[in-house]
Amino acid sequence: MRAQYGAWPYPHVPLLATLPSTHPFELHASWLWDRAGSGPAPTKPRVWIAGCGTFRPYTFAVANPHAEIVAGDLSEPSLAVARRRCTVHGVRNVAFAPLDLDDPSTWPEGRFDVIECYGALTNCADPLATLRSLRARLTPGGVLRLMVYPHWSRQRVFQLQRVARLLGFTAAERSHPARFRAFVKRLPAAHPLRYAFTTYADSRNDTGVVDAFLHGGDRGFTGWQLGALLRDADMTPAFWFHRPWAQPDAMSERLSLRDRSQSEVLAYLDLWQELRGNFVVLARANDAPPRIVQEPTPHPRFYGDDDGLRHRLRLLRLGLVGGTLPSRTGYAAVKLAAADVRALRAGDAPERLRASGLVLGGDHGSRLPTHADWPGEPAFLAHAAGLRTGRRAPNPLYAHLFAAFELAQRCPELRLPDLDGQMGRWLPWADPLEGRPVRFGLTPYGTLQRFRQSVADHLARADLGAAASYADVRLRDDAATLQRVRSLLAAGGEAPAIARDDATLRELAVLLLGHDTLFLSLTPA
Ligand SMILES: C[S@@+](CC[C@H](N)C(=O)[O-])C[C@H]1O[C@@H](n2cnc3c(N)ncnc32)[C@H](O)[C@@H]1O
Repeated sequence: MRAQYGAWPYPHVPLLATLPSTHPFELHASWLWDRAGSGPAPTKPRVWIAGCGTFRPYTFAVANPHAEIVAGDLSEPSLAVARRRCTVHGVRNVAFAPLDLDDPSTWPEGRFDVIECYGALTNCADPLATLRSLRARLTPGGVLRLMVYPHWSRQRVFQLQRVARLLGFTAAERSHPARFRAFVKRLPAAHPLRYAFTTYADSRNDTGVVDAFLHGGDRGFTGWQLGALLRDADMTPAFWFHRPWAQPDAMSERLSLRDRSQSEVLAYLDLWQELRGNFVVLARANDAPPRIVQEPTPHPRFYGDDDGLRHRLRLLRLGLVGGTLPSRTGYAAVKLAAADVRALRAGDAPERLRASGLVLGGDHGSRLPTHADWPGEPAFLAHAAGLRTGRRAPNPLYAHLFAAFELAQRCPELRLPDLDGQMGRWLPWADPLEGRPVRFGLTPYGTLQRFRQSVADHLARADLGAAASYADVRLRDDAATLQRVRSLLAAGGEAPAIARDDATLRELAVLLLGHDTLFLSLTPA
């Protein structure tokens, strides 16, 4: 990790890129404490950004001009960029210190009211041990904002990582990100891996390609795994930083999963590719004081916290002409009329602004139990990742879609309706991405609309055999197919010139050439 993020400080954002002072309103300590039910945050909160990268310290400083912020990262080059950015923008309330999340003896002293650990825990050798130590650094009422990758929604990224590894692309070679990009862009427009790559915002810059696709130690969590991780770290999820559509309470209602835990509903959303983002959660220690529901009050950046000439001018302008603020949790941007801004600045907390997040207060807690274990999950995951054999075997490129199709049948203890029943529940809510320009393979819902009968036939069949590896199976026209892969690799000249055995070529054939069929012939060798 040190070498990767040392060579490729992440994210790649121009040094002069500025963030308007009202934009990161959802990162204000008072906002975070309110959403988590911790009551009013201290007026000078201590914030620690653990695994901060090059940009986040600036973001937090803009959101929290009164905070004492400590930012740390394993990568000193990332810290240098982050420090330079803060200097360039006149930010003075951030202290920088190198740290290793795997080694608490390197961490900054003291406790923190807010700890931000965004996209870094997934890199740790022992995420639970790190999370426990992070929890021990929270003040009473303190909140941890955690982002981890979702296991199912990130499958396309993991598949692209696998392609890169099989082809021999690595973060150690400066030319490899660009060459990998050129290689993926030669895939047909209808290929889901090409779609996943090109629609990934970070794929346009080499640093982003490394962070997503040439990563040395990436992993995801299912909803259940994340729930268990938090529980084992003696923490409780207090607020999900997801769009309204992906809030567990709303979705448990809409999908008739009423007596389920938050972990289960989120796992289900992730499996059906409807999370449409990463898992981002505000968590509190289990021994934190009980949740508090505050009275409605304007967001401090709009009322009270308005020192700084630039910020006052911005509020003045918004109060005259209104404006738009990006919202992470609301998904759609918040459109503010000038009168709204003037009301907030006058200390009002209008009802109409409650949903926007610009008013603190109200109860944001979940009514669902936080977590209940699902003992069947490890076997289900192992089955989904396995290589099944037969003349109509599930195409491994679509393994995660098959996992969604097979869940109810393989795991009756989850008490899900049959596939048609589940489709009926999804009907008003799901957003099939297919058709732009990918015909199928992006969501289970969209794929099932096209292949309902084939999938039903598949579910009606007896269990298929399994193979341990691609060395133990043969594709239809195996030799000719492997030759097609060799030609594809030779054609563009991007892939490193390394020796590849037949098993590697076979796996590449499935990942690169097998996108137009949901079932494949994978017969035992
Ligand atoms: C995906 S980046 C996220 C950066 C930043 N949190 C953000 O959201 O923009 C992961 C960051 O975690 C850092 N990191 C990885 N392993 C780490 C460790 N063991 N200790 C500290 N930082 C680590 C990397 O150097 C990198 O800056």
